[in-house]
Amino acid sequence: MLLALALPAGAAGAAAEAAGAAAATGGAATGAAMVTPKRADELRHMVRQDCGSCHGLRLTGGLGRAITPAALAGRDPEDLTTIILDGMPGTAMPGWRPLLTQDEARWIADYLLEKTP
Ligand code: HEC
Repeated sequence: MLLALALPAGAAGAAAEAAGAAAATGGAATGAAMVTPKRADELRHMVRQDCGSCHGLRLTGGLGRAITPAALAGRDPEDLTTIILDGMPGTAMPGWRPLLTQDEARWIADYLLEKTP
């Protein structure tokens, strides 16, 4: 399947961790508070490595368009969360649902918008 091919090998480990994190939190609460500092480090790394492979090392655009705070200014973080989880059908943007919990995708959306603590 395309998603598996598009993802770097390291992503599989992240998936297992994401599943573990989801189980640990019981999926009850939502928001950045549910992302541990350690997981936040991993997500930052993922944004640079995995997202950066298409969106550019500095997220200023490549195969995918720029996803810098300036480029995304005014966008609804909920919409961005959905794009991150489900991708953009018909484009090269893959869905990351297998690798991320809802909270983690929202964390990344806030991170891209520079709204994370
Ligand atoms: C395989 C390449 C690829 C990877 C990897 C990728 N993207 Fe994308 N992404 C795209 C493309 C291409 C688009 C633009 C689709 C279009 O509009 O034609 C896009 C669009 C987006 C958008 C929408 C931007 C807007 O202005 O609406 C967001 C947000 C986004 N990506 C975030 C991410 C995040 C976060 C990651 C990492 C978890 C990621 N992308 C990884 C290719 C990729």
